[in-house]
Amino acid sequence: MQPIFAPYPQSRFRRTRRTAALRALTQENTLTVGDLIWPVFIRDGGGPDQPIASMPGVARLSLDRVVEVAAEAADLGIPAICLFPYIDPALKTPDCHEAWNPENLANRAIRAIKAQVPGIAVMTDVALDPYNAYGHDGLVVDGVILNDETVAALVKMTLAQAEAGADILGPSDMMDGRIGAMRLALEGAGHKDVAILSYAAKYASAFYGPFRDAVGASGALKGDKKTYQMNPANSDEALRLVARDLAEGADMVMVKPGMPYLDICRRVKDAFGAPTYAYQVSGEYAMIRGAALNGWIDGEKAMLESLMAFKRAGCDGILTYFAPEVARLLRTP
Ligand code: PBG
Repeated sequence: MQPIFAPYPQSRFRRTRRTAALRALTQENTLTVGDLIWPVFIRDGGGPDQPIASMPGVARLSLDRVVEVAAEAADLGIPAICLFPYIDPALKTPDCHEAWNPENLANRAIRAIKAQVPGIAVMTDVALDPYNAYGHDGLVVDGVILNDETVAALVKMTLAQAEAGADILGPSDMMDGRIGAMRLALEGAGHKDVAILSYAAKYASAFYGPFRDAVGASGALKGDKKTYQMNPANSDEALRLVARDLAEGADMVMVKPGMPYLDICRRVKDAFGAPTYAYQVSGEYAMIRGAALNGWIDGEKAMLESLMAFKRAGCDGILTYFAPEVARLLRTP
């Protein structure tokens, strides 16, 4: 862009900010309900929603309830729902085999939603942590997270989820080579139209804390995820990861967390022009919601401003726990 600079008073930027009409005409970015992916926590058994203390307003839902809220989300125009299972601790093992059980909680939820709310896209999480006795996203042997053995496990998980009817698979594990392996397996099994939204640039972040409470992984996890998730100090590496995942067959790519990494979103979008998403993670949600509940900020305005920031940074969409609330606000004229 060629900057054309008229000095004051020929240029007065306040002219285009004077009225709501002029502000609307000169607005560069827009947030719409079509930009939203709604992450939802699911659990086995019946009964009422189980609130998550560190994420006020978010709860673990039974299968019946998740079908209900998926229908509500579809009515609001939310294009996709993303499922995160809370797995019974008794099913967490060192080999994580529950992850590729065709009848596991996540796969049953995919089937139930696709049968009853076919219009909403169902996205899944491809990673071993909910099923892992050690709480890690990969297989742990003698304290080491194994890459290639994990990729083989993720491929089994991929096929079970595709078989159940998932529209978008979200590998969030950060192992090397998983996108290519997943894509090849999907093609081989006839699931040629299942999309992969790669968590391509996922950082080892403190902002995932409330999520680990929500899926019950906090207790099991020993240590940190720094040998597979990215160093928050790195930026060029994110571009190399995104390039690699696109080359291996990812359809869409994600930067995670969101707000502290808007610079990465912009670089990724500018460099590749691929469908680019950000995950406004649990800790970001908790900060905004917590401050709002204390009366320290206007929660509604802060929520909308935070989501607009992703659009400004070049994102095509946002995974956000605010999705239904935002969708309702955007709907009211
Ligand atoms: C793990 C996974 C995590 C999130 C999504 N998938 C947590 C982690 O990597 O420890 C975090 C989402 C959030 O914080 O909202 N596969």
